[in-house]
Amino acid sequence: MRIVLLGPPGAGKGTQAKTISETLAVIHVASGDLLRENQNKGTELGEMARGYMQKGLLVPDDVIIGMIQDRISNPDATNGYVLDGFPRTLEQASSLDAALSSQNQHIDKVLNIKVSDSELIVRLSGRWICRDCQRPYHETNSKPKKQGMCDECNGELYQREDDTSDAVSKRIQVYSNQTAPLIEYYKERGNLVEINGEQSIEDVRKDLLETIS
Ligand code: AP5
Repeated sequence: MRIVLLGPPGAGKGTQAKTISETLAVIHVASGDLLRENQNKGTELGEMARGYMQKGLLVPDDVIIGMIQDRISNPDATNGYVLDGFPRTLEQASSLDAALSSQNQHIDKVLNIKVSDSELIVRLSGRWICRDCQRPYHETNSKPKKQGMCDECNGELYQREDDTSDAVSKRIQVYSNQTAPLIEYYKERGNLVEINGEQSIEDVRKDLLETIS
């Protein structure tokens, strides 16, 4: 099964992706995590992406498309995947469709997690992420058992450099201009399902799992 998780920054894509990928026994491919991994390793791709990410802008399409195509052509993606953060522009969506249809494949479901801008700001300003396994926490909504430490792997929690208020405002604006048009794109293809993301993490999870079952 091939799933796309759509939604603005802070909607809860990363929070929900792990459960979905475990339930379907498919891999979780998060474009932002792959870019940050490249930055940590100091690769050319990571260094190039850094400036865009810090400002809350999208990394150029050709770079992202190449990175994701590489990842989903690995053998562990044969059973499918949950795409989190990709596609994010019409060009990325159509190149994904073209690559899939050349192999007689398609995206099965696009789950669009809807959350208001005011709630996104609350979520991103209070977010902490595990440096090792990338699991997101929130200082009030989803606290770790031990402060500053990941429940799952004991990794150190940190705040992303693009979760500053300026970068968050830019990311929300970029989402409206460049990513929101994908909602219509996938509606026309008949595989978009809207999910109310302004419920508890558990209730959002329940709705997502009901949809994919
Ligand atoms: P990326 O890393 O993909 O960031 P994003 O899309 O902005 O999404 P986030 O990771 O910020 O949010 P999320 O929806 O995963 O929310 P989360 O689950 O953490 O991209 C970063 C940058 O990389 C981009 O700006 C761009 O520069 C570049 N990039 C990446 N992909 C690209 C692409 N395809 N093309 C071009 N450039 C690209 O949850 C947020 C917080 O809310 C957490 O604290 C969580 O605990 C809490 N929370 C979650 N759900 C709930 C709930 N139901 N109730 C209360 N709190 C909740």
